[in-house]
Amino acid sequence: MEKKVVLITGCSSGIGLSLAVRLASDTSKVFKVYATMRNLAKKERLLDCVKGLHQDTLEILQMDVTDRQSILTARDKVVEKRVDILVCNAGVGLMGPLEVQSLDSMRHVLEVNLLGTIQTMQVFLSGMKAQGQGRILVTGSTGGLHGLPFNEVYCASKFAIEGACEILMTTSSLLTEILKIKKYCSITCGPVNSDFLINLQKAELGDSSLQQVDGRTLSLYEKYLQHCSTVFQNAAQDTEDIVEVFLDAIHSASPAFRYFTNSVMPPLTKLKVTEPDGMEYIKAMSKIIFADQDQ
Ligand SMILES: NC(=O)c1ccc[n+]([C@@H]2O[C@H](COP(=O)([O-])OP(=O)(O)OC[C@H]3O[C@@H](n4cnc5c(N)ncnc54)[C@H](OP(=O)(O)O)[C@@H]3O)[C@@H](O)[C@H]2O)c1
Repeated sequence: MEKKVVLITGCSSGIGLSLAVRLASDTSKVFKVYATMRNLAKKERLLDCVKGLHQDTLEILQMDVTDRQSILTARDKVVEKRVDILVCNAGVGLMGPLEVQSLDSMRHVLEVNLLGTIQTMQVFLSGMKAQGQGRILVTGSTGGLHGLPFNEVYCASKFAIEGACEILMTTSSLLTEILKIKKYCSITCGPVNSDFLINLQKAELGDSSLQQVDGRTLSLYEKYLQHCSTVFQNAAQDTEDIVEVFLDAIHSASPAFRYFTNSVMPPLTKLKVTEPDGMEYIKAMSKIIFADQDQ
């Protein structure tokens, strides 16, 4: 049987690495995985996980989603000359009071999470259209559906990708009749145990950059950091749990547009839909994080 060709971005750690390992190890041997990462010096971790047993199901390629040429070069190295499933997973975080974020930091997050994802899709889209089939999965975030305090630019990038994917899904369902192709799925994650927090650009409380920030904002930020650390300690999912949701989307004959990794819509997201003026959501979020703060 012809293998399904899967190309995944951001496989040096976290969700991308786990997904690459899982698909390349699938006992059915139905997948050929192109695990891409921007820095091949980091490939040992992935190789350690597959223990050299996957010569026929795994290739590791260099790809930086902010560098169009590297995306084109990776595409040209796909031996099968087609990608059946594209997983846009690479992403970075940025946290802190908005007034201390440098233009470079903000630009970097938007370049990786937004433009990087979009230009990766662009490069593979025409091939999928030409071959008459394909599926694009994006690692989304609850921060792409509702705002998270002190994550303005990260959320902006993830909201924007949700919008772009909704549009692509709308036009692809119109095209499906003709082309039998293209499903876009957003796999919406809450907190996940990965290298995300290590790689996150975060303003630390002692940073000199925070000296310009007013005391009230700083105290809210401190509270938010405590909240984050509790949430990651108590409620973060393992990457293997996220991979199971990807597998649902990959195996489904008619995948949904959005999959929540906790299987139910998070209550805060629901509030945005049921209370469209937005104020109930704002109040609920403030209460959860800053409950005993003098508002
Ligand atoms: N962890 C969470 O709590 C969480 C929650 C919701 C959504 N997500 C999303 O899940 C996705 C994967 O994150 P993760 O949790 O697995 O974190 P992670 O372990 O930090 O993985 C992020 C991956 O993206 C790669 N990357 C960063 N910039 C890149 C670029 N310019 N080109 C190519 N790859 C690049 C990183 O490579 P390097 O090693 O080279 O930096 C790394 O392989 C992200 O899109 C993130 O926004 C994560």
